[in-house]
Amino acid sequence: MAIEIAKPQLLLRQLFDRDTYTYTYLLVDPETRQGAIIDAVKEQFDRDLEIIKELGVELLYAIETHAHADHITSAGMLRQNTGAKIVFGEAAGIQEIDLAVKDGDELSLGRFSIKVLSTPGHTSGCTSYYVDGMVFTGDCLLIHGCGRTDFQQGDAKTLYENVTGKLFTLPEETIVYPGHDYKGRTSSTIGEEKRWNPRLGGGQTAIEFIRIMSDLNLDMPKKINEAVPANVAVGSDYNPRQYVHEDFTMDDLHRAWEQLGDNELIIDNRTPEEYAEGHVPGSINLPFGEEARHVDTIKKYAKAYIYCRSGRRAQTALTNLALAGIDNVTCVSHTGMPDWVKAGYDVE
Ligand SMILES: [Fe+2]
Repeated sequence: MAIEIAKPQLLLRQLFDRDTYTYTYLLVDPETRQGAIIDAVKEQFDRDLEIIKELGVELLYAIETHAHADHITSAGMLRQNTGAKIVFGEAAGIQEIDLAVKDGDELSLGRFSIKVLSTPGHTSGCTSYYVDGMVFTGDCLLIHGCGRTDFQQGDAKTLYENVTGKLFTLPEETIVYPGHDYKGRTSSTIGEEKRWNPRLGGGQTAIEFIRIMSDLNLDMPKKINEAVPANVAVGSDYNPRQYVHEDFTMDDLHRAWEQLGDNELIIDNRTPEEYAEGHVPGSINLPFGEEARHVDTIKKYAKAYIYCRSGRRAQTALTNLALAGIDNVTCVSHTGMPDWVKAGYDVE
């Protein structure tokens, strides 16, 4: 039997965060390798970055459906590490972003185009994204459910109007990918939700929906006080960028080296071969990629400095260390060992 090779469709990876039942979606045009990630979770940053690297994805967008109350986004970290633009619905009023999108906007992704649907109601800034027969609904429309409407400027009537007037007008076969599912379901379709969503489907009226929502009496999400402020800052409270001292040079390192205390450490982040050729006297060699294994050692020092050849490895290492909870490291960025040699400083 001959197998027909179809034209490559948009590649979708549906990823899950078990702690918060959150779905993250990675979309990739297999032809151009351009990609977008929707609702990435801070705790899953390493996992997501690994997949992005393995698939050779040029990440164009870190898209958020809304400012989440139950988990913290990794959008800031993804931007820092991949250059992706952070995309948020305009009405969310988030400052730290690159693209504020509104209803009808389109984001180009290789041969595809992501259409923006403004769908407030769960929060005032909730946005859904449609591409290639799929709609990513965040917490607006869930599988046989919907997001709550009792905080973050939520409004049941608005949510009802957006689901029935906007999402339910998409083709019935459109696959619905929600922001969460608590029962192990992964997707649905617009047709199924129109028929069987107990809150919004089956011709449910707005008045009945508003009554259902006001009778829910839900507890506040556990992480709301932490998550909402962090997400408004696109997770940047956790962005390792804050640990990069943009203008810390090898001359600054030399000054620090001259008065280095017993509780201070200098880390050479290059390969053992480069280290053997000459390094800052007294520095220890923790090669790039291995530094996170030495977190306990680094923690014993009050302060540490890290350098490499050009500053690139050291900056990435700093990101890895920051993710491992290390915040006492100063990074030599944009320069490195050759400038130390050029300045005529002692070399070991
Ligand atoms: Fe939410």
